[in-house]
This record gives sequence, structure tokens and C-alpha cells, in this order.
Amino acid sequence: AAEETQGYTISKDSLKTSLLQLECHFTWDLHKEDVGLEALEERILDHIKFVKECNITDYNILSYVCHLKNSNEEGLRNLQKAEEAIQEHHPGEIARRSLVTWGNYAWIYYHMQRYEEAQTYVSKVENSCKKLSGTALGKIQLPEVCAEQGWALLRFGEKYYERAKNCFENALKSEPDNPDFNAGYAIAMFRLEGCAWWNNEEMWPCLEALKRAVELNPNNTTLLALLALELQRLKQTNEGERYIEKGLQKTPDFPGFLRYAASFYRKKGEVDKAVNILKEALALTPNSVTVHHQLGLCYKFKIIQLKKARYPPQEEVENLMEFAIFHLKTVIDKNPLFYSPYSDLGNVYALGKRYEEAEEMFQKVLHRNDIPCVAKQLIYLNYGNFQHFHMKSESKAIEYYMEGLKMEKDSYGRKQCSEAVEKLLKQKIERGLGHATAFSTLGLVHKLNGKKQEAIESKAHKNPV
Ligand SMILES: *[C@@H]1O[C@H](CO)[C@@H](O)[C@H](O)[C@H]1NC(C)=O
Ligand SMILES: *[C@@H]1O[C@H](CO)[C@@H](O)[C@H](O)[C@H]1NC(C)=O
Ligand SMILES: *[C@@H]1O[C@H](CO)[C@@H](O)[C@H](O)[C@H]1NC(C)=O
Repeated sequence: AAEETQGYTISKDSLKTSLLQLECHFTWDLHKEDVGLEALEERILDHIKFVKECNITDYNILSYVCHLKNSNEEGLRNLQKAEEAIQEHHPGEIARRSLVTWGNYAWIYYHMQRYEEAQTYVSKVENSCKKLSGTALGKIQLPEVCAEQGWALLRFGEKYYERAKNCFENALKSEPDNPDFNAGYAIAMFRLEGCAWWNNEEMWPCLEALKRAVELNPNNTTLLALLALELQRLKQTNEGERYIEKGLQKTPDFPGFLRYAASFYRKKGEVDKAVNILKEALALTPNSVTVHHQLGLCYKFKIIQLKKARYPPQEEVENLMEFAIFHLKTVIDKNPLFYSPYSDLGNVYALGKRYEEAEEMFQKVLHRNDIPCVAKQLIYLNYGNFQHFHMKSESKAIEYYMEGLKMEKDSYGRKQCSEAVEKLLKQKIERGLGHATAFSTLGLVHKLNGKKQEAIESKAHKNPV
């Protein structure tokens, strides 16, 4: 019996070694700490429901998400659906199209301690790779598998976008005209460019990639909307709007497109139009975190607009406030990891003079250490503004703007923190208040900004010889 146990242990080890060789979601370094699992699951289910293309990629990643949520049985059911879709859409290439699905099967069975079934799927993958590559080792890198990894990475958030772009680039080396690979590449570039903007980094040139993706995927209005948003970024709003209008005609009921269309109009300042589109999207996907978040932002924007009037319409403001709070609370409820709705909600409470609730919201994110630097700087900026403009505390405002500035990464938020604190300090100095501290803090601002000369001058002011 001892021997049997030992033999069994050895095969379990070698099984693990084989599993680690597989190309599938379990070996792609996708961490559950980086996503809100519930929200991700919801998003994939919505996509399956509305997209016209076949669902293989979605069912594969869904099986992995189910595993992360400790529901392996549900994971297996989704893999079965992936298999059915493969049989329906690629009856002539079952082995080639099933590698990721079978890899996920093997891993889920392994986690369920059903080692024989796991081994069966490992063997299926290994044998198929040998056949497909025509070599005994069976090492093979199929472009479809690269692309599938790219799609998975894109779903796991910002940290993964650069790797996603590389995957699509690799896939394109084998098939430069493949519509799906071009779509993935363009989407990854678009998202990287969005991040670069917040990071104050050089832009990623994604206009050409988007144009090419649209050309190769003429029916895909999601890509059309991204092209429109890119043109808007490049200040070619009118051309962009023509694409949005075209998309609205073609797929008036595809939520993935509607969200981007709404985003386009919100950024253009046509908030009522954005709200109407978002309401349609919400009717189609009532649990979408993105739609709730965008609605919250639109209502917040409307409140700010109305409050600019000398006599704001009180009742309307109150109503909008309730809507904004409802939608932002829903977002937090559905994806507590997502950080920006906390300061958005904090800002809304502040607009309604509900300062305690605002404070509570900001405190929830100020102390979190899982938030990327660039986002944290924006949170400090928002909280600094809250202290400055609502709580009328210049010293606290300065303290928090400085926190944002002390984080070294150059970003939009850091720049805003720097400008805000510099302005505040200069005002203080002009009014002859808090002279010495104001000067030394200003010196620190310049030092943190690398303006050595000004730091020296400011020091000279403080200690006049
Ligand atoms: C994707 O899955 C959904 C839900 O099962 C189904 O209605 C739809 O027809 C599938 N898409 C394709 C192209 O098979
Ligand atoms: C685009 O959609 C039209 C109408 O539904 C269809 O006839 C055409 O085959 C589609 N083109 C592609 C490339 O999928
Ligand atoms: C466009 O393609 C992307 C990538 O395959 C997909 O996620 C999206 O749902 C598609 N949009 C439409 C409208 O078909």
C-alpha cells in the first residue's frame, strides 16, 4: 500500500509539471486580487448574451472565473458550453480550437482532486500539440492561443494591458490580416493610451490601429465607438460623432457600444443625451458596473452645472443627488475593489453639504494600499479639494495635496496637486500668513518637482541674510 501511495504521489507531481506546461488561463498569471470577480462574471455573462460572434473565448475565461470563485462544478459546465460552441463553429478544427478549453478542464479536475480526468485532458492537449506541430516535443505557439491570452489579460485590468498588447502583436506576426487579432491589438493600444494620459506619458499611437481594426471588422460597432473616442481625444469631434451616429443606427441595442457612445456624449458635454443612452443600456444590462458608474458621473456633472446658477433649482438638484448616490452606491456594492466611485461619491455628498458621509467615503480609499499610484494621487487631489473648498481647511488641503505630490510618479493627478498647493501657499504668503512654514513647504514643493533653483531662492527668502 505504501508503494501505491508513493507511486500515486509521484504521478501527482508529474501531473503538476505537465499542467504548468499548458497554455491556458491557469498558467497566464491572472490574479484574482486584481479584479472584482462578481463584476467580471457579470460582464462576461452580459457579453455572451449580446454578442453575435461565437462564445468560446467567453466560456473559457468564465470557467476560470468560476474556479476563482470556488465553484469548480460551474466552471466545468462552462467548459462544456465552450466545447459545444467549438463543435458548432469549427467542426473541422476541433483539436486546434480546443487547446485552451482542455487545458482549463485539466486544471479544474486537478483542483477537484480528480487526477485521472485531469491526466486525460493533459494527454489530449499534448497529443494534439504533437500532431499540430509535427514534432515529438509538441512545442507549438498557435496565434489563436496567443490572442486568447490577450483577451483574458484585457479583462483583468490596467496592470495587464501591456502584456495583452504583446500577445496580439505576436499573433499578428503569423496572421497580419486576422480581424480578431487586429481588434485585440487596437483595443489594447487604446486602453494603454488612456493610461498614458493619466500617467503624463507619451501617447500611444492607436489611431491607425483602430482604423485598420474597423476596416477588417466592418460590423463591429464597439471598435467604431473606440475610433470615435480616439478622434475626440485628438479634437476631431465632428468626425468622431459621425461614427457614433452610424453605430447608433447599426446596433441601437448592443450595450457594449452604447456605453462608449454615452461616454462620447458625456465628454462632449451633452450629458442629457448621454443619460438617455445609458438608460437604454441599463435596461439591457441592469447589473453593469460601468453603466451605473457612468450614470453616477453624468448626474454629478449635472448637479455641478445647476449649482453654478445664482438660484439653483433646489428640488431638481435634490433629485439628481439621490440618483447620483444610488448609482455610485450600486457600483461600490457590486465591485468594492473599484476605487474611483468612492471619491466620486465623496464629491457628490460634499456638493450636498453632507460632509460626514463625504468624509467617510474618502477615508475608505485614503487608507487602502492596493490602489495604483496614479489613482492614489487623484484621490489625494480630490480629498485636498474637499478640505479646501468644502471644509475650508487650508492646512489639511495642503497636507493632502502634498501627499499626492510626494508620490513620485509623474501623473495628471500629481500635476494638479502640485499646482493647487503652490497656489494656496503663494496666496498665504501674499496675505502674510504662516510665513515661515509656507515658505519652507513651498521650497519642498519645488524640490519635489525638481526645480532646484526655485528651492534655493525660496530658502533665501525664508532666511534673509
Ligand atoms: C452565444 O451564447 C448565447 C447564449 O447561450 C447564444 O444565445 C448565442 O447564440 C451564442 N452565440 C453564437 C454565435 O453561437
Ligand atoms: C456584416 O453584417 C451583414 C448584415 O448583417 C452581413 O451580411 C455581413 O456578412 C457581415 N459582414 C461580416 C464581415 O461579418
Ligand atoms: C467587437 O469585437 C470585440 C472583440 O471581439 C467584442 O468584444 C465586441 O463585443 C464586438 N462588438 C460588436 C458590436 O460586435
